[in-house]
Amino acid sequence: MTSPTPVTDAAPAHVATPLAAIDQRQLRNALGTFATGIAIVTAISQSGEKIGLTINSFNSVSLDPALIVWSLSLNSPRHADLVAASHFAVNILAADQMDLSNLFAGRDAERFANLETCAGLGGAPLIPGCLAWFECANDIHHEGGDHLIFIGRVERVTLGEAKPPLIFHGGRYRELAADA
Ligand SMILES: Cc1cc2nc3c(=O)[nH]c(=O)nc-3n(C[C@H](O)[C@H](O)[C@H](O)COP(=O)(O)O)c2cc1C
Repeated sequence: MTSPTPVTDAAPAHVATPLAAIDQRQLRNALGTFATGIAIVTAISQSGEKIGLTINSFNSVSLDPALIVWSLSLNSPRHADLVAASHFAVNILAADQMDLSNLFAGRDAERFANLETCAGLGGAPLIPGCLAWFECANDIHHEGGDHLIFIGRVERVTLGEAKPPLIFHGGRYRELAADA
C-alpha cells in the first residue's frame, strides 16, 4: 500500500494550518478526488429576475428536520440576491444535462433565455428534466472562508425521472460505470 502524501506538514488537528502553507494545486487535486453530482441552484432576484448557477457543493445535512447545504463563492455577482431570496431551489442534474451545467457555470448572462421553467416556492425556477428538486426556505447562512454556506430548510422535495446522474470528478464530467 502506498502511503499518502500529506497535503500539509503534519500539525495537531486542532491547529489551523495557515493558508499560505497549503499548496493550492494539491488542495484542489485532493478535493477533486471526491466525486460529486452536479446541481443548479435557482432563485428570484430582488428585482424579480430568474437567477441560477451550477454547483457541486450540495450535500445532505439532516433528515429530520430536512436540511441540505451548498456554498457560494463570495465573488459571485449573485451573492446579495441569493442571500435575500426567501427560497432557493436545488435542481439535481442528469447526465443528459451537461450543456445546462456549462451554461449555468459560464459567462453567458442569458442563462434562462431558452429555458422553460416553472415557478417553485418563492418563485424559484424549477428546471425540467432533472433527477430531483429540493425547494428550500433560505434563512440559514454561515461564513465559510471565501464562500458563504447556505443551509436550506427543505419545504418540498420532488423526484424526477430515474436517469443516470451528471457526475463531476477530477475537474471533469464523468459517467457512471456499470454496477460494481
Ligand atoms: C461542476 C461545477 C461545480 C461548481 N460548484 C460551485 C459551487 O459549489 N459554488 C460556487 O459558488 N460556484 C461553483 N461553480 C462555479 C459557478 O458555477 C460559476 O462560477 C458561475 O459562473 C457562477 O455564477 P455567477 O457568476 O452568476 O455567480 C461550479 C462550477 C462547475 C462547472
